Amino acid sequence: GRSGDLAGRRVIITAGGTHEPIDPVRYIGNRSSGKMGYSLAIEARDRGAHVLLISGPVALPAPYGIEVQRVETAVQMRDAVYSSITDADVLIMSAAVADFRPAEPAAQKIKKVSGQARGQSETDAFSLHLVQNPDILKDLAEPLQESHNRNEQPRRRLIRVGFAAETEDIIANARHKLAAKQLDLLVANDVTRSDSGFATDTNKVLIFHADGAVEDLPVMAKSDVAAAIWDRVVPFLGTM
Ligand code: PMT
Repeated sequence: GRSGDLAGRRVIITAGGTHEPIDPVRYIGNRSSGKMGYSLAIEARDRGAHVLLISGPVALPAPYGIEVQRVETAVQMRDAVYSSITDADVLIMSAAVADFRPAEPAAQKIKKVSGQARGQSETDAFSLHLVQNPDILKDLAEPLQESHNRNEQPRRRLIRVGFAAETEDIIANARHKLAAKQLDLLVANDVTRSDSGFATDTNKVLIFHADGAVEDLPVMAKSDVAAAIWDRVVPFLGTM
C-alpha cells in the first residue's frame, strides 16, 4: 500500500498563482485556483509526510495537519521556498508563478485621466513597465560540475518536480523545461481541454521523466493525479 511511504519525509509544495501589485488595489494575476497543489499536499500528508504548503492567494481553506505559508508575489514565494529548502526531500512547484511584475508598483491608486492629460496619445492608452521575476525552480538547478570542498557537509539531494501549462507545442516545451530546470519529473497539463488545467476539478497530464520517457495519463480527479505523481516520486527517495 501507499500509506506511510512518505513517513519521515519533508516535502514542500507550492500552489496557486501569484499576485503582482500594480498599485494598492490592483494586481497582475492568473487563473490558478490552487486545487492541484492542495491535492498534492493532502496526498503527501495522508502518506505520512511533513508538508509545508506555500500558497499564493486562493479561496481554499488551509488543510488539516498541513503547515501553510501564504504569500502574494513571486519574490515572496521564492523567499519562502529558499528559507525552508535546506532540510526538504522533495519540492513540487505546482504554483503558476508570474514571469513578470510591474517594475515599480504605484504608491497610490492610479487614477483614470485622459491620455492627453498624462502626456500620452489621445487614445487613452496606458502602459505598464514590467520586469522579469526570478525563476524559482531554475535557480535551484545544481551547478553541472560541483566543485567539491572536502570540509563541506555533502548536501542532501532535493527531488524537484515542475509543472508546465502549455497552450502549444506541449511536448517540445515540456522537454525543454525539464532539461533547462534540471528536474526529476515534469508534469505537463493539457490546458486546451475544458476538463483540464486551471481551476477545474480534473486534470489531464503528461508526465515527462529525465530519461526521456513520457507517460500519457487519462483525465482524472486532481486528487488521483496527485496520487499518481507521488507514486512516481517515492522511488527517487528509496535511493537516498
Ligand atoms: O491551481 P489549479 O487551478 O488547480 O491549476 C493547476 C495548474 C494548471 C496551475 C498547475 O497544474 C500548473 O500547471 N502549474 C504550473 C503553471 C505554469 O504556468 O508553469 P510554467 O510553465 O510557467 O512554469 C514551469 C515551472 O516552473 C512550474 O513548475 C513553475 O512553478 C516554475 N516556475 C515558473 C516561473 C517562475 N518564475 N518560477 C518558477 O519556479
